[in-house]
Amino acid sequence: MSILKTMESEFDSLDLPIEEFKKLGYAVIDMIAQYYEGIREIPVSPNGSSAKIENLFREELPVDGQSPDTVIAEWQDRILPNATHLGSPRYFGFVNGSGSMIATLADALASSVNMNSGAWKPGPGATEIERITVKWLAQLIGYPDRCGGLIVSGGTMADFTALLTAFRNKATEDTTNEGLQSTESNGRYRIYMSDHEGHIAIVRSADMMNLGRDAVRRVPSRDDFTMDTTALDRMVREDIASGDKPFCVVAQAGSINVGAIDPMEEIAAICRKYDLWFHVDGACGAVGAMLPSLKPLYKGMELADSVTLDPHKWLYMPYECGCLLVNDPEKLRRSFSIKAPYLRGTLPSEYDGLDFLEYGPQMSRGFKALKLWMTLKHYGVKGYQKLLSQNIACARHLHNLVKADENFQPAHEPRLYIYSFRYFPQDLREEHDKSCINQYLDVLNQTIIDKIQLSGLAFIMTSKVRNSVVIRMSVCSHRTTLEDIEIVFEKLAMLGQAIDSKLRKTTA
Ligand SMILES: Cc1ncc(COP(=O)(O)O)c(C=O)c1O
Repeated sequence: MSILKTMESEFDSLDLPIEEFKKLGYAVIDMIAQYYEGIREIPVSPNGSSAKIENLFREELPVDGQSPDTVIAEWQDRILPNATHLGSPRYFGFVNGSGSMIATLADALASSVNMNSGAWKPGPGATEIERITVKWLAQLIGYPDRCGGLIVSGGTMADFTALLTAFRNKATEDTTNEGLQSTESNGRYRIYMSDHEGHIAIVRSADMMNLGRDAVRRVPSRDDFTMDTTALDRMVREDIASGDKPFCVVAQAGSINVGAIDPMEEIAAICRKYDLWFHVDGACGAVGAMLPSLKPLYKGMELADSVTLDPHKWLYMPYECGCLLVNDPEKLRRSFSIKAPYLRGTLPSEYDGLDFLEYGPQMSRGFKALKLWMTLKHYGVKGYQKLLSQNIACARHLHNLVKADENFQPAHEPRLYIYSFRYFPQDLREEHDKSCINQYLDVLNQTIIDKIQLSGLAFIMTSKVRNSVVIRMSVCSHRTTLEDIEIVFEKLAMLGQAIDSKLRKTTA
């Protein structure tokens, strides 16, 4: 044997013998299929304490390896019993997509080839699929076809990418090379969003850009939770007069507590007037624009300089899958592009394509677009329109149940699939000490939600609307039916009654 062969005979790799790989792979598919089969019945979240679950997974770094079937068996033994099932039809927490079967398969396929879509060369097919998927998303919501954009990890990353692009393009000094340290820098940069429903992803983005969290100015909202554009105009004017530097306004297209859609046409006009970047945070709701019945609410979104939309929310993608659309892709590229000889050959070649690393904060990037591309191809616009309409029908049905029950109170009319309301016993409505009653209702509603989570029947969360704790349900699963809504509402009513009577006894 040659010396090379002798050395090589001691090399190892992570590969399994192909027959063993197949056996494991089929077993994993069986496990996943069994999971999907039972997804309606499983408790939506585990009821172990965080300390208990942490303990369960605390173990030493493995020095010697174990057989793959032992490792994979952990999925059934330890991981699934401690999972929260976002794919359950009765999962209504945060704004979390429910995943799709085809996307699960797509993720496995994407991992197998392991293309890096940061650059064209290590990911030619992945790049082109991402490019067309981004175009499709724009088309889906009626955004200009000339736009560019990219898939990112989620709404926060999309918002951050948009705000940095806004800053680069609207700042009065060279923020690319000198950052905030330019000697020409004076005055405070300002971003505007609505006070009640503006999302903290915008605050986090301002923070990450080192503009400070206070750079985000809260614009008063109207009774329907949308931005008061008269107030916006006044604030921008006054800030400019006092030497500040407004550069961006963020509109909500489907807000976090009530699904509000800001008046985007009016905001676009104000942005034009003061030369500001117009960004739409449509993480929760931009895709609602695909529904002809809702389309008028989105008027003006097509005028935005950039739009965040989050396929891992209302397009039901498994994590992670966010997206940013930018009207002028060259503005995006100029904001992020940094040249280095090791990123791309120094001389142009016909084999160079689009390098997504020039368009966003990430360099190496996974192939997140595949799952969305496959699901869109499999389900089509019509299929998606049906699913979105189902979710809206569920939110409306819930609203009707709330209105018909004298012990519940809606916080708003549902526009999309997000709905907030509270348990408010009828006999407490006439009480005079409003602040005392509000405090009581806050505890009551939070306790109802804690209990329903522990029951495993449904996963629901609370939030605050106009300073009151509300039950907030995001009906964002393609599996949810009207019957699920009724089952959950009945349970909420039962818990409300039982907890209310118990709390009254203890506070009497
Ligand atoms: C309006 C809005 N923007 C941004 C985000 C952040 O999205 P992600 O959690 O995907 O980063 C959310 C999350 O719910 C949101 O509702």
